[in-house]
Amino acid sequence: MEDDRLEMTGPQWMCGELLVQGSKNAALPMLAAMLLVEGVYILHHCPQITDVDHMLELLSDAGCLTHREGHMLIVDTRGADRCSLKGSGAGKMRAGVTLLGSILGRLHAVEIPYPGGCTIGKRPIDLHLKGLQQLGAVFEHKEHTLSGYARKLHGADITLDFPSVGATENILMAATLAEGHTVIRGAAREPEIAALAGFLQKMGAHIEGTGTSVIRVKGVERLHAAEYIVPSDRIVAGTYLLGAVMTGGEIRLLHVPTAHLGILPHILEELGAKVEIQTDQNGIAVKMDGKIQPVPWLATAPFPGFPTDLQSALMAALSIASGPRILEEKIFEARFQVAPELLKMGVGIYTEGSLAVIEGEARLHGAHVRARELRGGAALIMAALAAEGKTDISGMEFVKRGYEDIQGDLKKLGIVLH
Ligand code: EPZ
Repeated sequence: MEDDRLEMTGPQWMCGELLVQGSKNAALPMLAAMLLVEGVYILHHCPQITDVDHMLELLSDAGCLTHREGHMLIVDTRGADRCSLKGSGAGKMRAGVTLLGSILGRLHAVEIPYPGGCTIGKRPIDLHLKGLQQLGAVFEHKEHTLSGYARKLHGADITLDFPSVGATENILMAATLAEGHTVIRGAAREPEIAALAGFLQKMGAHIEGTGTSVIRVKGVERLHAAEYIVPSDRIVAGTYLLGAVMTGGEIRLLHVPTAHLGILPHILEELGAKVEIQTDQNGIAVKMDGKIQPVPWLATAPFPGFPTDLQSALMAALSIASGPRILEEKIFEARFQVAPELLKMGVGIYTEGSLAVIEGEARLHGAHVRARELRGGAALIMAALAAEGKTDISGMEFVKRGYEDIQGDLKKLGIVLH
């Protein structure tokens, strides 16, 4: 297999057990939080993915020393005295935005390349800036850079118009060092927020209410470095669970805090799978030996609703369900990028605005397809497993942004790759 392509022949069914990798969307804000205070940090179970590599480049640009030993990451932020990341890779990805809160918290000034949108949407940051302004920051928009300054950060009572994950993370980080009390109302409830809060609490922050929509923070004078374990990636787990439903077979995923899966186990059962939750082992087993039942109209929603990051994989699964169904994408405005590629594999899909009508009953066949973004690429791989014949998938560099070793994972789940 060439580096950015993957070939496989279907149909195959999944059978096996897998330890799920660390979470991309939990690890990235934790790395950003390290800029809140100088020290030597250790992260365990950190996924080896390109988005983490890019974030480590940013931290190095900010003056940090980083060292990786497998899934363990050591970050020394004692030399992180630069508030400007203008020349760095910050523009290469969006996670640079999460540095706003931590750099402001510590250095009271920050400059980053203006974060662009991406294939799934414009990705504005108005909620981030509004919340940080209420904490005392002032921002200046230049042609390509965003600068922020805060003589002093003070607590505030902040209400988010939308439970933005990134905005909640940025405001939470800055509030840990703001003078006084901060309340974040309408906060995101995703498990990654609780994971970040757990890391910040180990660093000495006073935070209550994560997992609910009202988070309370009592600012402290100073934090300190900490060691932490990154939770498993609920979206990687959900991708493979939906893949098992598509191919038939039986898989068990370990190391997955099943509470992080939200409504997903219920949806898997609605699709016709037998689901067994093993809370003592943080495990979930799925067995699928019949046709996929079409779930009623399904819309993506903030946690604990159906995650937008699994919408493409669900679209692929519904394409072979027994009957037409409608999917509504309510989080991002352009998240049906995978549809034209699934059409090449014989799927009947019609999209209009935020709605996708999936005909169902498709007989998937192999094709040359291209991943255009991270989660659509993973969905194409799941579809290729259920398709008759050979599928060649290019654009695997997108998949590597979030899936550490999807080929290795699939082999552990009984899949034969070329
Ligand atoms: C995080 O993105 C995740 N990324 C995304 O995962 C995930 O899809 C998303 O949360 C929703 O769960 C990381 O954690 C690194 P949002 P984020 O702010 O924080 C609008 C993946 O595949 N919005 O909750 O950017 C925004 O346009 C990635 O792993 C504003 O309007 O998501 C979007 O429509 C993709 N103004 C909606 O809110 C703002 O200031 C949700 O965005 C911020 C967001």
